[in-house]
Amino acid sequence: MHPRRFSASGPLRGRIRVPGDKSISHRSIMLGALAVGETRVTGLLEGEDVLSTAAAMRAMGATITRDEDGMWHVHGVGVGGLLQPQQALDMGNSGTSTRLLMGLVASHPITATFIGDASLSKRPMGRVIDPLSTMGAEFTASPGGRLPLTLRGISPAVPIEYRLPVASAQVKSAILLAGLNTPGITTVIEPIPTRDHSERMLRGFGAELTVEIAADGARVIRVRGEAELKPQTITVPGDPSSAAFFVIAALLVEGSDLVVENVGLNPTRAALFDVLRLMGGSIEELDRRDVGGEPVADLRVRHSALTGIAVDPAVVPSMVDEFPVLFVAAALAKGRTVTTGLEELRVKESDRISAMHAALSLAGATVTETEDGLIIDGTGGDPLPGTPEGQAVVTHLDHRIAMALAVAGLASRQGIEVDDTRPIATSFPVFESLLAQVSGA
Ligand code: S3P
Repeated sequence: MHPRRFSASGPLRGRIRVPGDKSISHRSIMLGALAVGETRVTGLLEGEDVLSTAAAMRAMGATITRDEDGMWHVHGVGVGGLLQPQQALDMGNSGTSTRLLMGLVASHPITATFIGDASLSKRPMGRVIDPLSTMGAEFTASPGGRLPLTLRGISPAVPIEYRLPVASAQVKSAILLAGLNTPGITTVIEPIPTRDHSERMLRGFGAELTVEIAADGARVIRVRGEAELKPQTITVPGDPSSAAFFVIAALLVEGSDLVVENVGLNPTRAALFDVLRLMGGSIEELDRRDVGGEPVADLRVRHSALTGIAVDPAVVPSMVDEFPVLFVAAALAKGRTVTTGLEELRVKESDRISAMHAALSLAGATVTETEDGLIIDGTGGDPLPGTPEGQAVVTHLDHRIAMALAVAGLASRQGIEVDDTRPIATSFPVFESLLAQVSGA
């Protein structure tokens, strides 16, 4: 355990650049590993989760190296060419690695065992086991459809048409990736849109993929199997989910005026910034441009007085990872913030509703937990009291809980003790050094 107390610091000023997008980084390695030839990736997130994906793809035959200048080179094996891994695939803390790779393995004639840390081993895998079983893969899972599990893939697999019962980009992507090595057309019907990086990138790599809007508004995504992927040169844009911590820190700390450069603003990811503007946050987009087929801008953020709101549950999928830190903004806003429709937060790296309820309450915020969200009565800008001497908030192996509470610590009277900062390295290894750089914390 690495405990640390995060305390009030100076204003956040200057310019920072956040690391590459986690979702796009995972997919760059996976699709590069399935293309024939060399894919080059710059701006890859070098966090533990993405390194777990890289290690797994190496174990299944891809050659993946990194230059001294930070460029990654992926030599793929071709769709259908994944090799039998010799050992269990250790997914660490990463749900994205696990679920997407289960999709890839499902339509190859190989058997793989997936293991992970205590957090990942509690997360539900039935949501991918169900559709992949229909395609012909076989599973031996731990009770409740959890890790460790062994997956016996099949080739040829059976193409399916599957309507997503949960709004999940990971489930959608697992099926589309399984479809790559399946004869015919694999169809995923998505009633509620989720992040669309898989669709964009599969097309970019040359897969035949179409998206249609059905009469009921659902997205119908079709991929033609037995695809041949062509290697790409990819620049990964900055991760809006990482930028979120610095954007909210700058909004909360008096005197702040910070530019966060290179923030990915794909509309299926960027709802947090709209919600914060509705709360009164000053967030300006500078130099909107395209990076690697994704919209990107630099965000100039100035300290602002925030007001609580009712967050529209329709935006949840496009800011699903940002609620822990939004709760912190709400705890410092004037009036009440109500969030609903957050059931999925209970099955992330931790139960983020109860983890944030417990942590913010310990830090002196006024928070009520409901089945599908939190109701927060903010301080109106006064700092939170902070955690009492000798008591720490519990992060439950969840990077976003640790970083959200670090941000809250900056806006507290006596600081907030975080029990363990190690999980931060899964998605944002330079978080603490960037924080020191812009605020002295
Ligand atoms: C991700 C999808 C989301 C998100 C996760 C990354 C992805 O998970 O929470 O951090 O890269 O597809 P769900 O699909 O479970 O919503």
